[in-house]
Amino acid sequence: MMNLPDLKEAKKRENKPVETIMASNIKSEKFKGKSFYLRTYGCQMNVHDSEEIKGILTNIGFKETENYEEADIIILNTCAIRENAHDKVFGFLGRVKHLKKSKPDLIVCVGGCMPQQDSVAELLKNKYPFVDIVFGTHNISDLGKLILEHQDKQDIEVYSVEGNVYENIHYDRDSKYTAWVNIMYGCDKFCTYCIVPYTRGKQRSRKMEDILKEVKNLRDEGYLEVTLLGQNVNAYGKDLYDGNDFATLLEEVAKTNIPRIRFVTSHPWDFTDKMIEIISKYDNIMPYIHLPLQSGSSRILKLMGRRYTKEEYLELFNKIKKAIPGVSITTDIIVGFPNESEEDFAETLDVVNKCQFDGAFTFIYSPREGTPAALIKDNISMEIKEERLQKLNELVNKYSLRHNKEYEGKVVKVLVTGMSEKGENKVCGYTETMKLVNIDGAIGDIGKIIDVEIEDAKSFSLDGKKVTFVKN
Ligand code: SAH
Ligand code: SF4
Ligand code: F3S
Repeated sequence: MMNLPDLKEAKKRENKPVETIMASNIKSEKFKGKSFYLRTYGCQMNVHDSEEIKGILTNIGFKETENYEEADIIILNTCAIRENAHDKVFGFLGRVKHLKKSKPDLIVCVGGCMPQQDSVAELLKNKYPFVDIVFGTHNISDLGKLILEHQDKQDIEVYSVEGNVYENIHYDRDSKYTAWVNIMYGCDKFCTYCIVPYTRGKQRSRKMEDILKEVKNLRDEGYLEVTLLGQNVNAYGKDLYDGNDFATLLEEVAKTNIPRIRFVTSHPWDFTDKMIEIISKYDNIMPYIHLPLQSGSSRILKLMGRRYTKEEYLELFNKIKKAIPGVSITTDIIVGFPNESEEDFAETLDVVNKCQFDGAFTFIYSPREGTPAALIKDNISMEIKEERLQKLNELVNKYSLRHNKEYEGKVVKVLVTGMSEKGENKVCGYTETMKLVNIDGAIGDIGKIIDVEIEDAKSFSLDGKKVTFVKN
């Protein structure tokens, strides 16, 4: 089997309407007693895709193991966003190659975003023949069939064009309390530095009725929180032409009365006033927004194709802060984009000073083959990139700590998700503003929303104790 990306084919199918089809959820006993090891790289999208992969593997008999050396099948769900994501995968594949020498029956699968790049698919074909199955982001639902039908020859099954939207997917979810819910796949924004539109394809929204059905099922199963997931959630519906947009969807999800709702990721360009209104109207929509800035310089933002200026970002940020009291806003920032001058970088620091984000993921620019930005000379030295990153991180951490300090002495609601790594008899969970809290509590608190008094704040977490109110 061989289906390497073919651009002609991509053009031919460009205007084909997306259809909703049912995932097959094949069941088989073929691998009963065998174990799988799954390693996930990248964003929440991949984390959730891995829940589908787990569902597929358990359906055909496998059980999960945490130790790759004892597994009968190893699956790497990969990420292509930056070069270091690539390096990690190839590093681990080196170890797997070694293992396969002593375990010739081991099945090795590489899937996710990396194989969607032609060069990686070619490399796996030519230099990594011990990899048995290569699959992409568009055919995860076929993985069961690929494994069941696999013979000795390497199977490369990667589709260059996004296919249909699958419903009826069986997930083996990591948590019993918080759940990811895809509301759309792909991205149409084509920010000039970003590989995602190429690895995930064009935007395809799920139908609102299907999303609501999934949320209601999760609520009935006892889930306390859903995260609506997409690369650009607030562009939801733009490809559906049925009149539904993200604000409408958010309102309908809120009306299901599931206790907590959040969503990632929002693009500033698609953020509407109606969205802000809905978020402030419903108590079960968490006051937490991840709003990637990428750069504070309007000149660099233009080169990045972000469709907003520094001033427009600040205006939106302030509008949200004003309309939603206590909202926590986090962001993503890239340093060292080609031609980023000291002045441009100073603009980024200026926005950070003005917005005082609750938190930020910060990255060094990494050229991605096939993106428009990769054609611009990557002319900032690694030394300068690292210097800027460090300076930015210091500032970001200062504000994170400052925000966290505001929680000291307050009582907040925390959804307890598991035991804490910070010591015995400690559990951990998240506030409605997505602050991580380590709590003096008990195992029985897991899976509940409890009141916690915050005693101490650090840059990346809070410490607190459970409070029980005595009724008079
Ligand atoms: N869809 C989301 C996130 C996509 S990837 C969004 O639009 O915000 C997550 C983050 O990785 C991006 O927000 C960006 O900050 C960073 N990123 C993407 N491409 C990158 C690249 N080539 N080099 C460095 N960081 C990158
Ligand atoms: Fe990438 Fe931009 Fe799409 Fe986010 S919005 S996934 S950064 S192209
Ligand atoms: Fe990486 Fe693919 Fe996500 S490239 S960041 S895993 S969409």
